[in-house]
Parts: sequence; structure tokens; C-alpha cells
Amino acid sequence: MLAPLHERHDVDVWPGDEAIPRAELLKRVAGKDALICVLTDRVDDELLDAAGPQLKVVATISVGYDNIDVAAVRRHQVAATNTPDVLTEATAELTWALILGITRRVAEGDRLIRAGGWKGWTFDFMLGAELRGKQLGIIGAGRIGRAVAAKAGVFGMTTVFARRDGTAPRGPDERTIDEILVTSDVVSLHVQGTPANRHLIDRKALARMKRSAFLVNTARGSVVDEDGLVWALQERLIAGAALDVFEKEPSVHPGLLQFENVLLVPHLGSATRETRGAMAALAVRNVLAVLAGDPALTPIF
Ligand code: GLV
Repeated sequence: MLAPLHERHDVDVWPGDEAIPRAELLKRVAGKDALICVLTDRVDDELLDAAGPQLKVVATISVGYDNIDVAAVRRHQVAATNTPDVLTEATAELTWALILGITRRVAEGDRLIRAGGWKGWTFDFMLGAELRGKQLGIIGAGRIGRAVAAKAGVFGMTTVFARRDGTAPRGPDERTIDEILVTSDVVSLHVQGTPANRHLIDRKALARMKRSAFLVNTARGSVVDEDGLVWALQERLIAGAALDVFEKEPSVHPGLLQFENVLLVPHLGSATRETRGAMAALAVRNVLAVLAGDPALTPIF
């Protein structure tokens, strides 16, 4: 997928499997016209200064761009792009994997079998919660939230949305965030990882949820106060949580590891072969466009 870039430009590719160390990134970005990065690479004044004034575009291979200091990028008059749309379905699919996994105790059952703990079928063994007839509350009615909702009917769920900016409900399926928390059986988060959304789900919010409800987060770790979540689980204020994202990735709050009713996956929302290919291809097309003097396909601003 880098071929179109190689055809027209000199390309310096970080060969490591792991994230490029910051010092290495700062060194290698110097003198470059474009940077294709991922969500673990912070793009700020330090990096933009290290790159130099010829830098024209920063393309993050992610839909979330909380790794990019937008004000700094603007100040440096650099274009910035992300990869929306192409990962919507993959992230919605993972959200459903988490919803089904936590409500039907899939990972917990797997752990039990591997630990040799299964003693045979019994009538009331490892009962889960059924989705049919239940309410899915989506906080963040953007592309991914809507794509998750589009599959809810298959499972017989009704869906309600709260706008990500917290503004008043406008349509018949819209609610305030508080109404979502109080009435939903599954609360799924699809807001951006902005400072304004930090700890949107805190102790107070968790205490508003039904005791039988599940929290699902495939958005950003910063949206949930993990200390508060551990507390809510300890107090049995909610039935469980399924998390793809964490406050201090790749660290996971140790308190979360103690609960069987917590499903943890390592930030896999867009991690399918198809989608990661499409994301990289979109980032490449954005860079090619900007370097050719054309508008970016998916500019952040
Ligand atoms: C993944 O988390 C993304 O923002 O693309």
C-alpha cells in the first residue's frame, strides 16, 4: 500500500514492530515533507519543530486524533488528516463482540475451561444476560455509534442515543446522557477522546446506571474514570464492563484484572486486515494529495 508513495517520493519507513521510540521519531522526522504516524505518536510543538518548516502534512492512521495537538499543527501551518469511515464497520463489529462477550460470559467461560474448572452441564450454570427486548444506549451519535446501532435490531434491542456534545435531544430516539445511563441495559461509548470528554463516565455517572447494566468502551480510555469503574464494580453498581481502550495504554488498571465480569481486549477496534489496509491506504492518499498541492481527502480541520 506504500507503493504509490515510493513511486513519487523518497520514503523512510520505521521497520520496527513496536512503536517508534520518541527520540528516534524526532530524529527521523527532521527535514521530511510529510509524516504518516499512528495514535501512539504524539504530534506537538516539539515534533513539529524537530521536523522543520518544510513539513506539509501529518497523517495519523486512526480516526481519533487525540495524539495530535491541533492548535500546534495549525500554528505551524501543517495540514493534518485522520482515517474516518474506513474503520467504522470494524469498530462496530468489535463493539458487538464485546457486548455479546460480556453479556454471555464468553471469555470467562474460556478461562474456566482452560483452568480445568468445568465440571459439566448444569441447569443454572454461568447464566448470562439476554439482549432481546433490552435497550442499547449509545453515547456519541457519530459514525461508529450509528453503525453499532444499525446492528442492534438483529439482536432485538432498541437503541437510544445521546449526542456526544451533551446537547439536548432532538429526535425521538435521542436522550440526555443521564437518561441513557439510567435506562439502558448496555451503555456503549462512542465519543472522541477530547479533554471535554475526559472522565465523562465517572463515579457519579456509573452510580446512575442500572445494577444489571453493562458498560462497553471502544472509544478512548480517557472517557472512563478507571478508578471509578473499579469502585462501581466492587460495589456491584453495574453488572460488568467490556473495554477495548484504557486510560494509560498499554497499562491496565490492576483493579480491573480481578473481576470475572470485566472483558478486556487490547485496543483492537479497527484491527482487521481489511480495515488496517484501508486506513493505511487512506493516509497515503492524504499525503499524496497534500504533497501534490491538492486538498486532503479527510482533513481534521
Ligand atoms: C483507533 O482507536 C482509532 O482512533 O483509529
